[in-house]
Amino acid sequence: VKAGDLPTPALVVDAAAFGHNLASMAKALPGLRCRPHVKAHKTTALARRQAEIGHTAFCAATPREIVGMARAGLGEDLLLANETVDRDRLRAMAECGGRVTVAVDSAETVAAAADEGIREVLVDVDVGLPRCGCTPEDAPRVADLARASGMTVRGVMGYEGHVVGNPDRAWRAEETQKSMVRLLAAHAEVGGEVVSGGGTGTFDLNRWCTEIQAGSYALMDTAYAQLGLPFRQALWIEATVVSTSLRGWAVADAGLKSLGMDHGDPTIERATVLFCSDEHVTLRPDPDAALAVGDRVRVWPAHVDPTVALHERMFVVDADGSVVDEWAVDLRGWDA
Ligand SMILES: Cc1ncc(COP(=O)(O)O)c(C=O)c1O
Repeated sequence: VKAGDLPTPALVVDAAAFGHNLASMAKALPGLRCRPHVKAHKTTALARRQAEIGHTAFCAATPREIVGMARAGLGEDLLLANETVDRDRLRAMAECGGRVTVAVDSAETVAAAADEGIREVLVDVDVGLPRCGCTPEDAPRVADLARASGMTVRGVMGYEGHVVGNPDRAWRAEETQKSMVRLLAAHAEVGGEVVSGGGTGTFDLNRWCTEIQAGSYALMDTAYAQLGLPFRQALWIEATVVSTSLRGWAVADAGLKSLGMDHGDPTIERATVLFCSDEHVTLRPDPDAALAVGDRVRVWPAHVDPTVALHERMFVVDADGSVVDEWAVDLRGWDA
């Protein structure tokens, strides 16, 4: 089967680009220096490749991802790099059979984790992204609460998510340093071996973390492609032209129900994307690249994480477009 024969819309992984991305990261940040974030792909078959190349500790954003990774035999060291007070899901993580560490940033998240049997935590610190994390000043209090509840504090985490996507490398370097001053201040008070943070856009700039939580690097997207990183776009949506207009546009069957759109429209080679609607992308082909009904186009997403979460499987293709593997996106959804 070729990519061009798949029912569409279909999520397609370029095996060579994907292999390049994994090898590049393993070379830059070998072994436990990178803790890949599975939120970017939600696929245990893909995580297994990351583990095989040496990254055997993982981050996750949802309890379902944690439990699914443990069930797949990838539970050596799993970090829920996110807060939850969901008692049932905390218990499911505590009982999943893997080593599970969860992020905490408040008395409430500490109490819920401790009550439901979680044994290890990281104190999550606000390093500038207006999202989760306590202030550096509050971190020792949160750590003390966790220890008093019988849990081990492995260290701190702080994700500079407000920095990772900016195309200006010098700016990213400066802002990462500012963020990490906050994280290291917290770490000095909290202690522990782990200082976790970073993402694809700062993987080689963040020199302060003991481990980098990069996710998007494995598959990439058009937003990250603008940063000049040593990773290639490895993921597209194969789509079929289902209509053309005498007024000059064509319509393919991949719309916002198969695409994460928060980083903008997708990109299509030799065409201008006009807009996406639920099931469709409307595009204007370049003058020398006319499209007919039934033709195939490759739709390159602007944001990998929410794109993958909309699909049940990915098809892996080799250089000549033959499908060589099929991976279930088995960590999607929320039920742990
Ligand atoms: C807590 C956390 N760490 C790390 C990442 C890194 O992701 P990426 O490598 O895609 O930038 C994310 C992504 O949003 C995240 O939420």
